[in-house]
Amino acid sequence: MSARHEVHVLNDITQWTAQAAALTRDLQQQAVHERGRFLFALSGGRTPEQVYRRLASQFSDAPQEWSSTHFFFSDERCVPPDHPDSNYHLAEAALFRPLNIPEDRIHRMRGEHPNPDVAAREYEDVLRAVTNADPAGWPQLDLLMLGIGNDGHTASLFPGTDALRERRRWVTVGDAPSGPPKRLTLTLGVINQATVVLFLASGDGKADIVKAILEPQQDADRQLPAALVRPDRVIWLLDRPAAAKLTGDHAEGHKRLT
Ligand code: 6PG
Repeated sequence: MSARHEVHVLNDITQWTAQAAALTRDLQQQAVHERGRFLFALSGGRTPEQVYRRLASQFSDAPQEWSSTHFFFSDERCVPPDHPDSNYHLAEAALFRPLNIPEDRIHRMRGEHPNPDVAAREYEDVLRAVTNADPAGWPQLDLLMLGIGNDGHTASLFPGTDALRERRRWVTVGDAPSGPPKRLTLTLGVINQATVVLFLASGDGKADIVKAILEPQQDADRQLPAALVRPDRVIWLLDRPAAAKLTGDHAEGHKRLT
């Protein structure tokens, strides 16, 4: 079945942040209602920070609302958990600590491990233990948040890398052309098994790559890592500057692309 793409374009960053928090909340309630818990993989990068802070402030009086949620990571930089480049570090400060999320429901990738491949296999064990997925299959996360880089990378799946070509492993080592070179990342197999993938992109710096992914002009665009993300349901949350180069009818507000 082809992926169902939904593109939401919000007027400004305040509306964008509110919509991201509301969507996350709706999907959490749906998962808890249907399956008794919410398996939520956070995105790396800086874009989701304001969404995490919004969720934390929205639920500061009711942190128990997250008692059925298990937090995972889509990727991690191979740095210590207190390093400013650590995706865990950002989520800890913006979301986990403010909501006092218990350790046993935070499943971070051990970016500090001296052997990234061992850390990747460890995280596969964590996914297997928490999701009860069949080792021969793929774990199914309820919501997987992703960002997008200007080269079309997502999670730590960079163009032309082994990590992007990986078809068997659940977690592997990514090679980044900039920033911390070694990464841990979920593979396309896990990403494409998610119930919902939510792409977050804001600001005019993302307009070109958003255009290339949502309105590909050439075959190379269709091979970009973010273009290979095809689970059953994909939601793109854009602010107007990030959507500025879109010409299709999804450029004007909320539109469902089939
Ligand atoms: C990471 C990410 C990466 C990120 C994009 C966008 O750890 O770097 O997972 O895929 O989402 O690079 O990053 P920004 O949100 O900082 O623009």
